[in-house]
Parts: sequence; structure tokens; C-alpha cells
Amino acid sequence: MAARGGGVKRFAVIGQPIAHSLSPRIHAGFAEQTGIALSYDALAVAPEDLGAQLAAWHDEGYAGFNVTLPHKTAVAALCTGLSERARVAEAVNTLIRGEGGWEGDNTDGEGLLRDLVDNCGVAVADRRVLVLGAGGAARGILQPLLAEEPAELVLSNRSPWKPETIADALAPYGRIRPATHMALKGDRFDLVINAMSVGHGGGFPRLPEGLLADDAVVYDLSYGEAHAPLARWAGDAGASAVFDGLGMLVEQAAVSFERWHGVLPVTDNVIARLRAA
Ligand SMILES: NC(=O)c1ccc[n+]([C@@H]2O[C@H](COP(=O)([O-])OP(=O)(O)OC[C@H]3O[C@@H](n4cnc5c(N)ncnc54)[C@H](OP(=O)(O)O)[C@@H]3O)[C@@H](O)[C@H]2O)c1
Repeated sequence: MAARGGGVKRFAVIGQPIAHSLSPRIHAGFAEQTGIALSYDALAVAPEDLGAQLAAWHDEGYAGFNVTLPHKTAVAALCTGLSERARVAEAVNTLIRGEGGWEGDNTDGEGLLRDLVDNCGVAVADRRVLVLGAGGAARGILQPLLAEEPAELVLSNRSPWKPETIADALAPYGRIRPATHMALKGDRFDLVINAMSVGHGGGFPRLPEGLLADDAVVYDLSYGEAHAPLARWAGDAGASAVFDGLGMLVEQAAVSFERWHGVLPVTDNVIARLRAA
């Protein structure tokens, strides 16, 4: 459905905080590249207002949303339908307008793999993989990581019960070993993926020493200033390569764009432009 305002479909990213979001620039770049007319805003919404706001935005004619911190799991419970991957993740980063509500999808896992494997050239298959953090973003990437058939997939988090619950829920798709950060003592990994939000506050939790195997790669879902604490830890821990999540941000946006418009945009020039800025 075309929204009010001259037939241009309206989209937005919703979260809290949201002012820092690069999504409006990314979707403007895709729109320019594909010649599709659209508007794309960044809208702040508090957790307690989420349900009422989603209904109001549906009434206003919005065509779709990206969902970010801290709403991914809460939004999943408010959707009228979920894609298979969003249902498995119990987390949503993309909303598609439906007749009576919002259909939820999750493009984070596909976005991660498109960047990690295709752009950065990092294999997951047969590697010992550690995911740090068990929030909405982690939930979205775990099943796609399992599908790559790592030698081992360990999920570690500050709150100890979340990895247990997620590992049980995803058991039909493969084995995830739940852990606390402290319990990682003695483990070694070829690939560490950071899905914690702690970097936004400039901090980083204490992790056991010796977690990185020789030639280990560290990938951070965070980017910009929020990437700095993980980059420092990875450098001190002897990582052979460290990547931030800017490429994933653009790749997951491209997959969302394809869900809304039926066209998968080219990403490399958009990533390059954001890095240059
Ligand atoms: N590049 C991309 O495309 C992309 C996509 C999605 C997300 N992200 C980034 O991924 C990160 C996580 O997002 P999310 O949506 O999963 O957030 P979330 O649902 O709020 O989860 C936050 C996670 O960080 C952990 N955490 C927060 N503060 C911590 C601290 N002080 N010490 C240890 N752990 C802490 C939480 O642990 P507890 O469970 O113990 O609270 C939880 O596991 C964010 O930085 C986000 O920007 C990037």
C-alpha cells in the first residue's frame, strides 16, 4: 500500500536510542541505486509504547520497518505472522506491512554470513566458533551459523540462563553449547563473534585468557565507536584479523530491501561510502 504523501512508500528504523542509526543513509543509497522512490526515517520508541506505536504506524500507512536495539524480541511477539527464520530466532529485525498488522522477518543471520563469509572471506565450516551475547541479534545469527556446520558452536552470556534457553530452543537445528563467560576458561576458538551491546557504553566484560587459537578471527556486530572496546580486546588477545559489523549492517539492510521491494541492491559501493565517511 502506498502511504499518504504522493504515493511514496514510507519506511523507518525503530529503536531506542536511534539518532545514531545509519539505516536511513543505507536505504537512501539503495533507493538511488535502484531508482525506487521511498522515504525512510529513524523513529525512537520506548519499550512500553511499542505495541500502540506499531498499530498507529500501521494506520498511518507505513510500509515497513527495520527494528533495532532493544526491541527485536519484543517486536516478534507483536507480529501477526513470522517468517521461519524469525520464528526460530524469536527475534525480528524487519517488519513487512500486512492487511491487519505486521509480518516479521529476520535478516541478521543472512546479513552476517553475506559479510563474514562472502565479503571478509572467513569460513565458519569446521571452525570452533564462540558467540558472545545472547540478545536479539545473537538469536538471529545462531541458526544460520549452525547451517554452516561449524566444528563447535558455543554461546556465552552475562545472564547465565539465556544461553541455556536458546540452546534448548535451537536443538532441532544443531548443537549449541551454552556457557557463562567465566566457564570459557580453557576453551580455544578459531572464530569469535561479538553480539554484546556492551561496547555502546565503552566497556567490555572480563573474559578468560587464551580464548583465541592461532590465526583466530574476531568479528564484531558493533561498528563505529561501539566497536572500539572489542577491537582493543581482540588486539590484546592476539587475533589475526578483526572485523566490525558495518558490512553486516549494510548486508542485512539489503536483504530487508529485497523483502520490501523485490530487488537485491548491490552493497559494496554503499559499504565503501559509509567507511569513507
Ligand atoms: N551490524 C549489524 O547489522 C547489527 C545487527 C544487529 C545488532 N547489532 C549490534 O549487536 C549488539 C547486540 O544487539 P541486540 O539487539 O542483541 O541487543 P540486546 O538484545 O539488548 O542484547 C544485548 C546483549 O549484550 C549483553 N550485554 C549488555 N551489557 C553488557 C555488559 N555490561 N556486560 C556483558 N554483557 C552485556 C547482554 O547480556 P545480558 O543478557 O546479560 O543482559 C545481551 O546478551 C548491539 O551492539 C547492536 O548494535 C549489529
